[in-house]
Amino acid sequence: MGVDAMKIRLRGLPSLKGPFAECDMGALPDTPQDAFQQWLDDAMAAGVQEPHAMTLSTVDADGFPDARVLILKNVDSRGWHFAIKANSPKGRQLAGNPRAALTFYWPVLGRQIRLRGTAVALSEAECADDFSTRPIGSKISAIASRQSEVLQAPEDLTRSLGEAQTFLEQHPDHVEPGWRVFAVAPEVVEFWQGATSRQHKRLSYVRAGGTGWEKQTLWP
Ligand SMILES: Cc1cc2nc3c(=O)[nH]c(=O)nc-3n(C[C@H](O)[C@H](O)[C@H](O)COP(=O)(O)O)c2cc1C
Repeated sequence: MGVDAMKIRLRGLPSLKGPFAECDMGALPDTPQDAFQQWLDDAMAAGVQEPHAMTLSTVDADGFPDARVLILKNVDSRGWHFAIKANSPKGRQLAGNPRAALTFYWPVLGRQIRLRGTAVALSEAECADDFSTRPIGSKISAIASRQSEVLQAPEDLTRSLGEAQTFLEQHPDHVEPGWRVFAVAPEVVEFWQGATSRQHKRLSYVRAGGTGWEKQTLWP
């Protein structure tokens, strides 16, 4: 496909087509956690698929950004949680630089939520608990996978999965040592409501000392 054909094709795709319900950003709660819960409820009610899928952005040792989709595991006063293997590229990037960003996009509602902050590993006990409650298939793949390394041959993966399954059958209470749950403790959380008129609304929660938050309205 030529460059112009691609341009024309992309220009023909709608974005933020709506219709979107009116959203009173001033009525959002005092904390970003409560606001997130409200918007997650809206997303679930609107039938957004996988509303708990989010993009985690990290930076590597050269300051190069990297990003990938993960599943949100929890939200509490410590932040937004996700579970990963410590020896994956993202795990190594976070070990070198814990600064991270998370992004959600829910097209049906025209909503985006962005967070920036620091990823803090939860206690060993909480990481172990998360691993123990994973479905068996997820445990097997977590043990078997040399995540993001080059797979030389499909048989290597099949063999590794088989070995992990046998191991788990013999050690059903096994907890994978490199399994980590992180919470991103945000400095800033932004709620963005798209509008078909392009008069988008934006509300930012900025950490104001201790546990308090200051709400700021941003230009669209
Ligand atoms: C919807 C979706 C959910 C995902 N959930 C996770 C997850 O919870 N944990 C995880 O390690 N990878 C998850 N992945 C895979 C990651 O996007 C990524 O490919 C993988 O973790 C390797 O990333 P890395 O090479 O940057 O470490 C998910 C991918 C998608 C598309």
